[in-house]
Amino acid sequence: MLYVTRREIFSASHRLFNPNFSDEENERVFGKCSNPNGHGHNYILEVVVKGEINTQTGYVIDLKLLKQIILETVIRKIDHKNLNVDVDFLIDKIPTAENIAIGIWEQLIDKIPSGKLYSIKIYETENNYVEYKGKA
Ligand code: NI
Repeated sequence: MLYVTRREIFSASHRLFNPNFSDEENERVFGKCSNPNGHGHNYILEVVVKGEINTQTGYVIDLKLLKQIILETVIRKIDHKNLNVDVDFLIDKIPTAENIAIGIWEQLIDKIPSGKLYSIKIYETENNYVEYKGKA
């Protein structure tokens, strides 16, 4: 079994807050991430596809094709956007790295032409990342 990874970078802003919380609760739970006018990150996205090698091509999936699919399905929607209001697959979600990873998984799961989607990683900072591998 082989695991093939494509990495993409995007920039986006967000504010972490729960509309059901008071201002004080939002401040307590989310701290500076709840700054009312938002803040930005340079996110790293890693998409991993798992599969057997195709003996005709030597590929699990053509990475040029995977790149195109990620650009069209995800990056076009999310790069240089405000994640609280601009992105259809994040509407009504708190735009944490967790929810971004799940949202991107759901965008890509039916679009992988060979192999199977294995994981989505979102690095929000150098030291913090979330990995999603679908519903347990
Ligand atoms: Ni943040």
